[in-house]
Amino acid sequence: MAENINEKPNGQLRVGDNSLELPRVPASCGEDGVHIGAMRTATGVVALDPGFNSTASCNSKITFIDGDKGILRYRGYPIEQLAERSSFLEVCYLLIHGELPTAKELKAFSERIHENRLLHEDFKSFFTAFPAHGHPMSVLQGGIVGMSTYYEYSTKNVLDPQQQEEQAILLLAKVPTMIAYTAKRAAGLPLLYPDASRSYTEDFLRMTFGLPYQSYDIDPEIVHALDMLFILHADHEQNCSTSTVRMVGSAQANMYASVASGVGALSGPLHGGANEAVLDMLNMMRDTGMTVKEFVNKVKNKEDGVKLMGFGHRVYKNYDPRAAIVRDTAHTVLKRLGASEVSEMLDMAMELEEVALKDEYFVKRRLYPNVDFYTGLIYTAMGFKTKMFTPLFALGRLPGWIAQYIEMLNDPATKIGRPRQVYDGEVLRDYIPVRERGKN
Ligand code: ACO
Repeated sequence: MAENINEKPNGQLRVGDNSLELPRVPASCGEDGVHIGAMRTATGVVALDPGFNSTASCNSKITFIDGDKGILRYRGYPIEQLAERSSFLEVCYLLIHGELPTAKELKAFSERIHENRLLHEDFKSFFTAFPAHGHPMSVLQGGIVGMSTYYEYSTKNVLDPQQQEEQAILLLAKVPTMIAYTAKRAAGLPLLYPDASRSYTEDFLRMTFGLPYQSYDIDPEIVHALDMLFILHADHEQNCSTSTVRMVGSAQANMYASVASGVGALSGPLHGGANEAVLDMLNMMRDTGMTVKEFVNKVKNKEDGVKLMGFGHRVYKNYDPRAAIVRDTAHTVLKRLGASEVSEMLDMAMELEEVALKDEYFVKRRLYPNVDFYTGLIYTAMGFKTKMFTPLFALGRLPGWIAQYIEMLNDPATKIGRPRQVYDGEVLRDYIPVRERGKN
């Protein structure tokens, strides 16, 4: 239900002698917007907001975050309830269609995904075209964009809702298979075909870790934990990768090309790549014998630009609600798997958190653990190599990218994304032939 129903005044802008009323755009909860579309024509200036600190790029009905209160909701449902009671495929449906599915709808949706999990047989050669130890995010990005060549029929009219649905199903179906193939290739092990009799997440684990000559049985608690981690990553409103997906899609590029661009953005260490960076940081501390206090001092002194990875967030200025759930899950999973070496790393991470949360540097800047701080430890205990962490994030984020792409294309207000700039380079210069350059 709307939390913010009172009429509030429009914005006012004055630039020199020009003034402009900025129509207020009400939010159902959170901050209202003011529309600045007429600003440039009316005042002759453009808005400059590097990093989009104060700029909303769209209206959206998908995900709500209150970063001060540590609230995250998908389509109005609190993340805590979904993490505890839902399943990843149900959340995919919710994000893409806007409502939780009926049992019949969920069955039909899951069946369509299961039926499409095989990759085109020729696609297997794609994985061998890259070095076996090439970063899986690069391979995944290439693989996803390559889908537009194998499933070109689904890209003929990107505005057609049926084609959007088809691309969504194919992405949800085939991306786990691709990620598992990438892991298998890096390990020099045979690829396994999907098995439609298993659940989505269980079969992803089987394709990643199973072997052709052995049956693969996995603890349902571990399957559940990974499924829940996918739910936690499923959407996060207009973050860097999602905004990239929307930007590329605004040119009416197909869903594969747009999502592949999102994968590229996610790979950065300031975004999804942070889960890998956290493990590297903990490994470095363990291997060099650096104490938590010594490392925190290094961060505070900004030595070599070192940061406490897995800490801080543009939107959350309170505990990231996902990080709280992940921390609890880490205890359960590590205990279940008896992963003592990883448990030592978990102790180190918790000590880091404790020290940081009491330290003036972090308190003043409102830096708390984000979702990436503890996920890598769980993934390690499950047997994933560090390089596979960000692809796991990508798999979780897939439904969010898809839902946001579809919402963007179906929004009548959408225009091709094309920011302005404030040019501050040379004004006008005459060309000087090379032989004359450098002479006074
Ligand atoms: N460690 C140490 N200092 C930090 C950290 C950190 N992790 N994060 C922010 N700060 C400091 C900055 O140096 C800056 O200090 P200053 O005021 O002295 O200059 C201040 O806090 C504000 O930080 P900004 O970089 O301006 O914040 P911004 O909102 O632009 O960045 C970001 C957010 C990129 C997430 C940042 O906190 C960061 O780099 N964190 C580490 C990487 C990470 O964990 N990324 C995952 C984010 S969650 C996700 O994408 C799923």
